[in-house]
Formats: sequence, structure tokens, C-alpha cells
Amino acid sequence: MAQRVQGTEDLFGGYMRAWQRMQDVAREVFGAYGFDLIETPAIEQVATFVHGIGESTDVVRKEMFRVYSGALVEQLLAKGSEDGLKAKQRLALRPEGTAGVVRAAVQNNFVPQGGAPVKLWYAGPMFRGERPQKGRLRQFHQVGVEWLGASDPAADAECIIMLMRYFERLGFDPASLRLTINSMGDATCRPAYREKVRSFILDHADQMCADCLERAELNPLRAFDCKNDHCREVMRDAPLAPNNLCAECAAHYEQVKSYLDEAGIAYVEDPTLVRGLDYYTRTVFEVEVVGASVGAIGGGGRYDGLMELEGGKPTPGLGFAVGFERIALALQAQGVDLAGAEPACVYVACTPDVRPSAFGAVLALREAGVRTEADYQGRSLKSQFKQANKLGAHLCVVLGPDEVAAGVATLRDMQSHEQEQVSLAELATRVCERMA
Ligand code: HAM
Repeated sequence: MAQRVQGTEDLFGGYMRAWQRMQDVAREVFGAYGFDLIETPAIEQVATFVHGIGESTDVVRKEMFRVYSGALVEQLLAKGSEDGLKAKQRLALRPEGTAGVVRAAVQNNFVPQGGAPVKLWYAGPMFRGERPQKGRLRQFHQVGVEWLGASDPAADAECIIMLMRYFERLGFDPASLRLTINSMGDATCRPAYREKVRSFILDHADQMCADCLERAELNPLRAFDCKNDHCREVMRDAPLAPNNLCAECAAHYEQVKSYLDEAGIAYVEDPTLVRGLDYYTRTVFEVEVVGASVGAIGGGGRYDGLMELEGGKPTPGLGFAVGFERIALALQAQGVDLAGAEPACVYVACTPDVRPSAFGAVLALREAGVRTEADYQGRSLKSQFKQANKLGAHLCVVLGPDEVAAGVATLRDMQSHEQEQVSLAELATRVCERMA
């Protein structure tokens, strides 16, 4: 039997309802902030991710699932290298949503120079070739937002406030959410800061792991996130981003914090928060659930240089994404049922001789928008009732020869077992009333 790919999940039943609920709540909460839905392809040119996420990030270097057409695979195997492939032949499954949305914004000119900001949200699968474990999958699902064209620190604060409101609406105990924020500077101040961190790592080379020594050259700030406890201990004395901001970035960060204070949003400043994607400038943030041990349930930040990296005009931007699977785990741990109850349904039971009348009743109820089930396996009336119970039907419409001859149906409440007779002509109206 063919097997599901390791680190992927099938979404069905209550788990699927939970994923849909996350999207429904997103539509409500983000809609109030003026965000519209966008869907970009799950497959993009590798260049989209290399430009945006950054060549030296783990996501691009180690975790991207590359995609080639069948014919190309043979060519590549014969040649043993990708050299000579055109950009349009070098494809990857998206490891995250931001780079693709910004690529789409550039390509479709969503934010003409001087135009109004554009606010977009999305929901869909992302793919990263990570080692699968609890809360870490190879295909996972994100809900995310991107706000393009807004440089005001109020936008950073609103984005964070919207994220926290979203988590609350999903059912999280607000006291369990730990929001951390930091500022990573911009093109003016970050190069010098990066250099300082690089020098610090090299000065402590004998105490750092091989990965961090490689990071010193490729992406020194990632050393703050090293899995090795000793490296993190050493990095405690490293120069910190908030102490190395230019005046503009420092002022921006102060304003973001004061807006958050004004809105009563609790946050912790973490000067070592660096995030795993290179496009961030200034504000970055992450949210964890205390005690859930599933990793961050969401994160994001500002990316004022990303539109240019994707080939567009200089345009500020910011956003965040949250992970469905981690949220589902964390909510479950808090005893919150994200899936909710199965949708209410009505069951039409009948004796075989009046099957055509039952067929008509089923169609009429469905036309009226009622979720309606019936028997398609030739079951006895008794086992149809059992089936109705199993499906959680609230009402059962019972049709036998006597009912059909009299032009009525018996309506049975599956909990109280009370029954009433309803004319077939008024069946749909009465069922709708009872289900309301
Ligand atoms: P990210 O922090 O890489 O940011 O991912 C956002 C969320 O996706 C994480 O907080 C986590 O909940 C979930 N996630 C990430 N990787 C996995 C995985 N392997 N398995 C399960 N869940 C995972 C981004 O992706 C940025 N695009 C966010 C953003 C939008 N920044 C600005 N705009």
C-alpha cells in the first residue's frame, strides 16, 4: 500500500473543520482590518525565494523542496548538475508565503508608486524539508498577512494587535500567549551590526560549534538561534541589535512599543530574536504558548527591502504568518475544541416501497439548504435509525406507505423521540424551523 509522505498529514473530519475554522476566523478578524484574500501558486521559481528569503538561510540552503519536470530530471541525472538551467526551469514548492505574495505584487503592480497600501491575507500549505517532529512538518499550513506600502510604526503595532486578537478569537487563553518583539535595524545600521556580531563569533571561535563558525561568514545573526546551548550561552554577551540601531530605526521601535502600550498589548523585548528569514528589517515578533512546547505558533515582521529584492520599486512592507498544526496542538492542550461540533443534519428514513418519495423529500430538503442524509445500502428501518444516530442527525423524517398515501411525513426528534406529522408540501419549511 502506498504510504503518506513522512512529515505530512491528511486533513479530514474534525481536523479539517479546525483548519476551516482558522480560515473563517481569519476572514472575520483580518477583514475588519481591511485585508483581502489572495492565493498565489504553491510552486514558484527558486529565484523568488533566493532573492527574498536569502541565499544563506537554512530555509533556502537546506529545506527547500526543489521541483523539476520529468523530462528535466533525466537531463539533470545525465549531466549531474543544474548548470545551464533557465530560471523558469528551477522551481521549488513554497517554504513560506511572503516571497510569493511580494512577487505577485511586483508582477501585477499592486502598489503603484505613491499608491495606497495593499493588505492581503492567505491560507495554504507550505513545504520545508525539516526533520519531522511534534509541531514540525514537511507540509504544514499557514494563515498569513502581508501589508504592502505602509511605513508608519502604527502599522507594525496594528499588525501585532491583529495577530493577538486572532489568537484570542481562536480560543487561546490570552494569559498563555507570550509575545516577543525586537528590532533588527535596516540597510543603514544592520551591516555594521552584522559585522560586530561576526567579529564577536570569531573572537570566541574556540567556544562555538562548527555551524556557528560557518554562520559567522554566511549569516552571523543566526548564531543567536543556535540549537547548541553552549553557543547560546556565549552569544549572551554578543552585541545586541537594539543597542546598535540608527536613530531612525530606534525612533521607529520606540513608537511601535508605545502604540502597543497604548493598546494594552503585553510583550517581552527579546534583543536576541532574529527570525530565520533574511528579508526582515526593523520590527520582528514571535508568539509562543507558554507550556505548550510546540515552538512558535506565529511570527513576522517588517521587510522594507523585500519589494526591491523581488524586482519592484522600493516599497515598505510587513506581515506575519501562523502555523495551523501548532495552533491545533496548543489549543488541544488548553482543552479548546477548534473543530466545533459536526454540522447538524437531518436523516430521511423510509421503507423500500416508498423509496421514490424519500428521494423527492431528500432533494427538497437539500434545495432548502438542509444537510440531509439517507440510506443508499438497502438497510432496514431499524438500522436506518441507528445510522441516523451515528451521523448525529437531529431530526429524522420517516416515510412509510401510510404516510405517503396521506401526503405526510413523520418528523422524529432523535433526542426526545417526540414525533409530529407534517404535510409533505410543508416538510422543508417545518424542518428549517425545527433546525433553526
Ligand atoms: P515563519 O516564522 O517561518 O514565518 O513561519 C510562521 C509560522 O509557521 C511559525 O510560527 C510556525 O507556527 C509555522 N511553521 C513554520 N515552519 C513549520 C513547520 N516546519 N511545521 C509546522 N509549522 C511550521 C514565515 O513563514 C513568514 N513568511 C511570516 C511572515 C509573513 N513574515 C512577514 N510576513
